[in-house]
Amino acid sequence: MSNVKLSERLNRLTPSATVALGGKVAALKAQGIDVISFGAGEPDFATPDAIKAAGIRAIETNQTKYTPVGGPAELRKAVAQRISADCGVNYTANQVTVTNGAKESLFLAFLALCDAGDEVIIPAPYWVSYVDQAKIAGAEPVIVETTAESGFRMTAAQLAAAITSKTRVLVLNSPSNPTGAVYTAAELRALADVVKQHPQIVVMSDEIYDAIVYTEYARWLRVAPDMVDQTLVINGASKAFAMTGWRMGFAVGPQFIIAAIKGKQSHSTSHTSSITQAAALPAYDGSVDMQAEVARMVAAFRERRDVIGELLTSIPGVSLNVPDGAFYVFPDVRGLLGKPLACGVTCHTDEELAMALLEHAHIGVVGGSSFGAPGFMRMSYATSMELIREGMARFRKAVVGE
Ligand SMILES: Cc1ncc(COP(=O)(O)O)c(C=O)c1O
Repeated sequence: MSNVKLSERLNRLTPSATVALGGKVAALKAQGIDVISFGAGEPDFATPDAIKAAGIRAIETNQTKYTPVGGPAELRKAVAQRISADCGVNYTANQVTVTNGAKESLFLAFLALCDAGDEVIIPAPYWVSYVDQAKIAGAEPVIVETTAESGFRMTAAQLAAAITSKTRVLVLNSPSNPTGAVYTAAELRALADVVKQHPQIVVMSDEIYDAIVYTEYARWLRVAPDMVDQTLVINGASKAFAMTGWRMGFAVGPQFIIAAIKGKQSHSTSHTSSITQAAALPAYDGSVDMQAEVARMVAAFRERRDVIGELLTSIPGVSLNVPDGAFYVFPDVRGLLGKPLACGVTCHTDEELAMALLEHAHIGVVGGSSFGAPGFMRMSYATSMELIREGMARFRKAVVGE
């Protein structure tokens, strides 16, 4: 037995359920079992050719050395212009840092903004990493529970009730992982009116799924330009340009916060890969038009959303808020709990149900408890229509036997 002790900081963390599912699916596949996974948090499309070509060019022209911390000025300027156009505000290159995925931007932002005991408001259901990243920064996550009935959107009254003198950060994620919920302009404005009364709060507006919406998209700063000094916009190339493995995300906001984030970055990763930065540049500086590629991807996701939604809700005991964005469905499965299913088991929690579906139907889903929503489950439809149909047929058979 080792005498080495791990840090208290690490003891506070919860292992990622989505990563755990990946491990279990891989283990079953290794035994030759044909498992269909609905766990993927990434588009199943290839990175667009223009981006790949820019990456190859970067290698061939030896753009393989260190870049400035947070990316070269050219890239930061392109991102500043793009986010300014999206949000209707005026950002400059020194208000941008490019990081190793949006995940690193969020992580460094929590470190830059929070001290021990500070509070971070996170509406549930939430993307798992917000809670653990806030904890690593020493902060206390304050979870605001939303319901399917409220469309999984936090109300201004709920927000007002959650704010204390210790609140430092509000996390907003629209479209949301895991629910696909998208806030309306009126809802965002009402939230902004609450935050405005608390100038110490920074809103981290995680807009990583902004390209994948099936409704009119209300953007936080478009609706609340008066919040610009209290907002960090988080976004990146992972989902919009099918670049998850390249690791390109960014934070955009008040210069002193970006400088603090870059200070931390300078002592950790310095910057994301020089090749990745060069590859992403054409997607942001407008030299290549990505609109047609993105529109094709969104049309495919919309079709799959409609099909998976219909097949899911045809299963007795399952109900669904049809998502307005991202590529996840988050069905309510409480109607399947506490009674025997056709596959011969009775599940009492979403986690038991996820395990039963993996064992008996050979489909991989993640229980809602991992996202702060017991009784639900998350399924990603970033997979082929054929696998969606087959997976839903297996789900149905495990539940009703036909
Ligand atoms: C809501 C949300 N924010 C941020 C990220 C991180 O994205 P990236 O791959 O750019 O680090 C993810 C990835 O799944 C996400 O779902």
